Amino acid sequence: MSRQSRWTRVTQCENIPLREGRAVIVDGKELAVFNLGDRFLAVENRCPHRGGPLSDGIVSGRQVVCPLHAWRVCLEDGSVVKPAEQKACVASYRTRVESGIVCVQLPAQQHGVGGVTEPEIADPTPLAARSACMPKPVPGQDLELEPAAG
Ligand code: FES
Repeated sequence: MSRQSRWTRVTQCENIPLREGRAVIVDGKELAVFNLGDRFLAVENRCPHRGGPLSDGIVSGRQVVCPLHAWRVCLEDGSVVKPAEQKACVASYRTRVESGIVCVQLPAQQHGVGGVTEPEIADPTPLAARSACMPKPVPGQDLELEPAAG
């Protein structure tokens, strides 16, 4: 079991309609989890522009359009896609589905404070640096994402 991260169950798959997002609170942090049909993606539920709720945005491909001022955020890495000159981003989180439950991988420092967190799911894989906010992978270091189970 990894000490660097853990998988946390956040909601049943059926609670997030196709091409929509839902806000969930995990360890006191609000995340937006989206159902893209073939997988679920999760980002921080706070637009980097002025804090709009990304979970209420319109899903377009692998992006969400913020409901407040229409910035586009990539759901795969949290980067702002439009306006293109913006370098801002939100944190993104790995997801997977286990027994019909959407699970999100959180770093270790977010453990154990309220929210809807449920018991840890054993996972031997390290937390990958998916977010555009996080440092880029070091050449030769394997940070490939594993496909979500389900
Ligand atoms: S708060 Fe999201 S675009 Fe302004």
